[in-house]
Amino acid sequence: MSNELRLGSEKRLRIFTGRGYPELAEEVAAELGVTITPTSAYDFANGEIFVRFEESVRGCDAFVIQSHCEPVNKQIMEQLIMVDALKRASAKRITVIAPFYAYARQDKKHRGREPISARLMADLFKTAGADRLMTVDLHSSQIQGFFDGPVDHLFALPLLANYVGSKVDRKRLTVVSPDSGRVRVAERWSDILGGTQIAFIHKTRDSRVPNEAITGRVVGEVEGQTCVVIDDMIDTGGTIAKAVDALYNAGAKDVIVAATHPVFSGPAAERLMNSKVSEVVVANTLPIPEENRFPNLTVLSIAPLIARAIKEVFEDGSVTSLFDGHS
Ligand code: R5P
Repeated sequence: MSNELRLGSEKRLRIFTGRGYPELAEEVAAELGVTITPTSAYDFANGEIFVRFEESVRGCDAFVIQSHCEPVNKQIMEQLIMVDALKRASAKRITVIAPFYAYARQDKKHRGREPISARLMADLFKTAGADRLMTVDLHSSQIQGFFDGPVDHLFALPLLANYVGSKVDRKRLTVVSPDSGRVRVAERWSDILGGTQIAFIHKTRDSRVPNEAITGRVVGEVEGQTCVVIDDMIDTGGTIAKAVDALYNAGAKDVIVAATHPVFSGPAAERLMNSKVSEVVVANTLPIPEENRFPNLTVLSIAPLIARAIKEVFEDGSVTSLFDGHS
């Protein structure tokens, strides 16, 4: 294996990783049959970050992988600095890969005098020198339009849905959106699973209180059903824990949770462990420290999908099939 994959005599693909979640980048690189370009990175005493690539990157097609895990702002800053270093070292094209794109929930102003931080993130990456952005399951699809350049928006849906579909009786399965905003995604789940029932939870939220969901009633028939609650992320686990309670109270026989991004902040793992959920299925877009793992947690790898997308981008192939959630 070498650090560089040559296609003809012109194109050279290189994978770079920040310090946020190098294990995922290693997995992606292994899928592609390359090694990660050696990079020195360290923090100065005051927290400032220094990055230097240990090999020439001139003319390469650079893919910079960094999932925005804790501490989120540090990972973002490190990725920005890496992009800047690549630009100044004459990389030919720079693709930012953020398997979990932080600040995606701040995609609009809910009230006056609020920021649109998801847009600011896109602007920062563009200003640093990113030509292209690749990410998985954005909180809302319109964030794609925030970045001034091509965006490869990948979907974990087939990965999660095929796993869940292989474990349950699809005839007794109801796909449940934890709020009205995700019903379209529930429909796509239902399609993949051959036309299952759909329900949603009427959730109201006080926008002045972060991470505090107030779950309302279940809309749809769940009596005696196995329910799979789908979401883009589990942060503190409040939304999911309340959804699970509501479904059992409405007569569900069994409840599974499938969410793309395991943010797992604060009480999330404890809440999920103490809930009656039978299995929590997530993708490995973020690292999950040992203390946040629990027996009925299943982690599926997103690395093959990211590797496929990188290969398509590098070879100027088609990534459309990866965009539409039907790979
Ligand atoms: C909300 O709109 C999101 O899709 C998630 O449901 C939410 O961010 C999860 O947060 P928590 O786990 O803290 O309830």
